[in-house]
Amino acid sequence: RFEIALARSAMTLQVPAGTSILEVLRANGVDMPSSCEQGACGTCLAGVLDGAPDHQDVYLSQAEKAAGDRIMTCVSRARSGRLVLDL
Ligand code: FES
Repeated sequence: RFEIALARSAMTLQVPAGTSILEVLRANGVDMPSSCEQGACGTCLAGVLDGAPDHQDVYLSQAEKAAGDRIMTCVSRARSGRLVLDL
């Protein structure tokens, strides 16, 4: 379980185990596009302003993953207790 803070929407949401960031966003009325929902297509990308993503996708390159400034919301999670997203 971790927390996501949406910088532009001024919302803080909890992401329970077994639920994706994408599912939590949609459940709270945040309209986020998606396609594959398996971490492969890049459609559900969000910018990361703070916190450490736990990348589970196969879309971002190793360098992009290391940079930690974007996340695929359908599969990836957080290593830190909180992620601040550019949403
Ligand atoms: Fe395809 Fe998330 S919907 S990577």
